[in-house]
Amino acid sequence: MKAMDEDILQVLVTEEQLKAKVQQLGEQISRDYEGKDLLLVSILKGSVVFMADIMRAIKIPSAIDFMVVSSYGGANTTTTGLVKIIKDLDSDLSGKDVLIVEDILDTGVTLSKLVPMLKMRRPNSVKICAILDKPERRKADIHADYLGFQVPDEFVVGYGLDYDEKYRNLPYVGVLKPEVYSK
Ligand code: IMP
Ligand code: MG
Repeated sequence: MKAMDEDILQVLVTEEQLKAKVQQLGEQISRDYEGKDLLLVSILKGSVVFMADIMRAIKIPSAIDFMVVSSYGGANTTTTGLVKIIKDLDSDLSGKDVLIVEDILDTGVTLSKLVPMLKMRRPNSVKICAILDKPERRKADIHADYLGFQVPDEFVVGYGLDYDEKYRNLPYVGVLKPEVYSK
């Protein structure tokens, strides 16, 4: 068996660090949203691992929903334009306290467009919870209300994040060896 670990050059955030942080964020969210109508919105696919963990670290009643979005323009995405909704939410947002669960805030373009779109649906509030943040890459004026770890400007995989749809199931966040990309 060739394990995925063999493709990893460096671990940036360990499984233990992720676990501890998720518990801490869950406690904080449980306190902040007490008495509110919390709806956790997971942006697929990258946030699926974080979502599964954070929802169990939240100790107050909350609903979950899922969304698939893509920015127009692919790699050349700019801060203008729209986000294309590939799979919309099932829930009616009116009166809900929406917490978007994301894997990483990178350029911020996707969420800077998605948040106003969701706000048009008259929720009580919309906030962002991201396990990773790459502040050096930011193009849009957006920040996470709940944040796990800042990472340097490097392409990372694991804990939901993929390279070519793989490595999402790594239990930690790491950087791939250069030879993996040249294959
Ligand atoms: P942005 O903030 O609009 O640039 O988009 C962020 C999305 O791009 C994330 O939700 C990830 O799915 C993906 N992404 C950004 N940086 C990385 C990375 O380092 N590894 C894997 N996916 C990434
Ligand atoms: Mg994503």
